[in-house]
Amino acid sequence: MGKAYPVVHQDYQAAVEECREKLRDYINEKNCAPIVLRLAWHSAGTFDKKSRTGGPFGTIRNPEELSRGSNKGLEIAVTLLEPIKQQFTILTYADFYQLAGVAAVEAAGGPYIPFHPGRQDKVDSPEDGRLPQPTSGPHQLRDVFERMGLSDKNIVALSGGHTLGRCHKDRSGIEGPWTEDPLHFDNSYYKELLSGPKKGLIQLPSDKALLEDPKLSRYVERYAKDQDAFFQDYAKSHLKLSELGFADEEV
Ligand code: HEM
Repeated sequence: MGKAYPVVHQDYQAAVEECREKLRDYINEKNCAPIVLRLAWHSAGTFDKKSRTGGPFGTIRNPEELSRGSNKGLEIAVTLLEPIKQQFTILTYADFYQLAGVAAVEAAGGPYIPFHPGRQDKVDSPEDGRLPQPTSGPHQLRDVFERMGLSDKNIVALSGGHTLGRCHKDRSGIEGPWTEDPLHFDNSYYKELLSGPKKGLIQLPSDKALLEDPKLSRYVERYAKDQDAFFQDYAKSHLKLSELGFADEEV
């Protein structure tokens, strides 16, 4: 059993490899790993497993989808990445934004995440309102991630993406980073979560929700203690996120 990945032309595969390297260097040069990761996540996180709509298929650059409240600020990432995209016109936006997501994690010192090309760009954006709200409790988080086809372990591992970046007053209405070094990908998000409020750092209700349910909090505790376990589960969870609705399981 495995996924039935499409076979792409060797020129396409070569472009993917070259582009991944360029993205890594560019993201480091611009210090933009956080917003690029958020772009990849907001592209993929709209997937609905029942209707098979939404997901990582490049629609986030549609002006209507990009201007939604939940995506505030992500036009910066789209604009920043465009000069690199122009060098790789062969790639679909669907592949390109997910490639940028895995390159961002790697550039910030996180785990290597495999990448399989072959996503086609879709025209229609999914309906609004599918991404999780910062006010979510554990049940709401579970409802949203289950709709995508993701598990409890995936929720906690992926929430570790908040090891990077910050909230911006003019985007989400909140201000501040989750960790002391928001450009470095490590397990400090879980350590901060367990140690409680700290001056200068923030925790959203949806972050604290991970401590409110024992099925979730056992992963917080595991990842706070063991960075290798976090990196392994993060890489698997991110791979799954980046492939929602893409390359179905072979039966
Ligand atoms: C679990 C539900 C989640 C909620 C409710 C949530 C909510 C938020 C909010 C409110 C912001 C601040 C936006 C701003 O003001 O700029 C943010 C930023 C961010 N989120 Fe999440 N998030 C969630 C999950 C995730 C996941 C799964 C990832 C990646 C795997 C992720 C990656 C990021 C990153 C990297 C930033 C920082 C962006 C920047 O610095 O510009 N988030 N998130």
